[in-house]
Amino acid sequence: MVEEQVLVATVPLMRVGYVQVAPEFGEVERNLDRVADLLARDRADLWVLPELFATGYQFATAQELAELAEPVPEGPTTARLIALARESNCHLVAGLPERADKRVYNSAVLVGPSGLVVRYRKVHLFYEEKNLFAPGDLPFPVADVGLAKVGLLVCYDHFFPEAARSLALQGAEVIAHPANLVMPGLAQLTMRVRAMENRVFTVTANRIGVEARTGETLRFTGLSQVVAPNGDVLVQAPQDGEEAQVVEIDPAQARDKHLTQLNDVLADRRPEFYGRLVR
Ligand code: ACM
Repeated sequence: MVEEQVLVATVPLMRVGYVQVAPEFGEVERNLDRVADLLARDRADLWVLPELFATGYQFATAQELAELAEPVPEGPTTARLIALARESNCHLVAGLPERADKRVYNSAVLVGPSGLVVRYRKVHLFYEEKNLFAPGDLPFPVADVGLAKVGLLVCYDHFFPEAARSLALQGAEVIAHPANLVMPGLAQLTMRVRAMENRVFTVTANRIGVEARTGETLRFTGLSQVVAPNGDVLVQAPQDGEEAQVVEIDPAQARDKHLTQLNDVLADRRPEFYGRLVR
């Protein structure tokens, strides 16, 4: 008698997580230590940290920003992130002020055990960032980290459907979204739509806390989240409170772009009718 064999297809699942923290302005080493503490409590294949997670957000002057900005990948923040990636055999996406030539960009890096994988310089600058940072001069990047292709946005980029769409068209299955959100509820909504309209996973890592260094008070809104390709929120952080949260996803779900049997959300596009003004 021939024994019946049950073949179970093994799907390589991926553990993705956000780290929601309250950075202390200018205390780079202390903020890095805090993130390292939170990361040590769980295991993920991909961690996403907030925008400007080690420096804080509200720079009073361009000089103050220049002093806290670092070259990438030579600077201490990128080096520490790479060391963390090696220790935990994972990839990390995180925001930092990048000094390059005489400019400072509001950048994000994707690092892994082998070092810097890709950098991104925030294209859509928000509010007073326009007075401090140079606008990004690189295309929205997608990199293969083994279990999935990961694309990068930073904070206010969430408002521009073209940004997430350009990542999806390049094959991104997970969009990593470091953020310092101050307008309650907006990105939690738009990132669900970005996930749904592109059939990708999104991981938004926001910060919490208050900064009032310039006469204006900024309250950061928390509610970091991981969203599935159908727009469902898989996990969400509180509005206030530090937290590192991981969820297991199947990146293959983001490779199927079907909304119905007859609708593929990327193949159904009709760019010839979108007009030159969309460009
Ligand atoms: C933002 O782009 N930091 C809102």
